[in-house]
Amino acid sequence: MSGKPVCVADYEEYAKKVLPKSVYDYYQSGADDQETLADNVAAFSRWKLYPRMLRDVSVMDLSTSVLGQKISMPVCVGATAMQRMAHVEGEMATAKACQAMGTGMMLSSWATSSIEEVAEAAPTGLYWLQLYIYKDREVTKSLVKRAERAGYKGIFVTVDTPFLGRRFDDVRNKFQLPPHLRLKNFSSDDLAFSSGKDFGENSGLAAYVAEAIDASVKWEDVKWLRGLTSLPIVAKGILRADDAKEAVKNGVNGILVSNHGARQLDGVPATIDVLPEIVEAVEGKVEVFLDGGIRKGTDVLKALALGAKAVFIGRPLIWGLVYQGTEGAKEVLQMLKEEFRLAMALTGCRRVEEIDRTLIRRDQVLVSKI
Ligand SMILES: Cc1cc2nc3c(=O)[nH]c(=O)nc-3n(C[C@H](O)[C@H](O)[C@H](O)COP(=O)(O)O)c2cc1C
Repeated sequence: MSGKPVCVADYEEYAKKVLPKSVYDYYQSGADDQETLADNVAAFSRWKLYPRMLRDVSVMDLSTSVLGQKISMPVCVGATAMQRMAHVEGEMATAKACQAMGTGMMLSSWATSSIEEVAEAAPTGLYWLQLYIYKDREVTKSLVKRAERAGYKGIFVTVDTPFLGRRFDDVRNKFQLPPHLRLKNFSSDDLAFSSGKDFGENSGLAAYVAEAIDASVKWEDVKWLRGLTSLPIVAKGILRADDAKEAVKNGVNGILVSNHGARQLDGVPATIDVLPEIVEAVEGKVEVFLDGGIRKGTDVLKALALGAKAVFIGRPLIWGLVYQGTEGAKEVLQMLKEEFRLAMALTGCRRVEEIDRTLIRRDQVLVSKI
């Protein structure tokens, strides 16, 4: 890249150059052979757009809502852990960027800034807490209660991580948090991932998850969470229609179709490919969101055309943070917004509600007879 970045890949190229290798590897990696990592992005190309012409797109409105909260565009920031490795201000910079752009931010349980610090950094921002269910239910409950007190507007409970997926580079690098950082939502050194423990020949984070996160979690635990808070709850990490129905039965207000940025189970489908069946399964009872592989405006439009209410970005935001903290994160969000605006205009949509299923079809794939 020479000069100003013009697409998400340019920001990533810059980040790769300046970040310590183990940090870049942590942010970039997918699980195992990273087949799903590549497919999350590639799958968008298998869906083709069928634009409508001559619809007067001189005036447009990109705004929408998520769980009843108005946002300026259907692109929000998903939970990515440990953002202070990307920029000194970490999650606080992300919060300021999201506030400035009028969109929402999902804060990771494993943030390097606390729930309260983030809310204070950008006090009129819109926040949701991503929740891991810890073996210690008092710890889990206190995260939810703190989010409520700090004015967060929802809980995204991650359902795809009883154990951490195996990311080869993190194993090779024996990934740990740099010693000056800790997971700020926790007071004990063990839960803050800052004990300086020797995790042997493993990714430190994988060992942390095995120790702290509850692998016995079941649908009943979602019911438990439902009883704990009146905040909207979204199940993050659903890839099957039957699981989506089960989530609705257990009282969630939304489904986030996600494969955790391809970091958990390799070999699962790209999220855009399973979105239609999940939208169909929930029959409009709850909002459906998507993350995974969103890198440009047409990706956003395709997800909305297939029924997502909004999308979340993971890595692209990190690359923006590395580039220039709040300003870099804002740039990435602004770029996606402008790309999405153009995609809407060129498909003849003035408002987000006009993006519908007729705009998109799966590419015809020729299957040869064996
Ligand atoms: C570096 C990194 C850290 C992540 N941390 C978390 C996390 O703490 N909790 C969680 O539920 N998902 C986490 N995710 C998954 C994201 O929330 C999201 O599902 C994924 O990044 C979307 O894919 P994308 O990166 O292709 O946009 C993480 C993803 C990345 C890349």
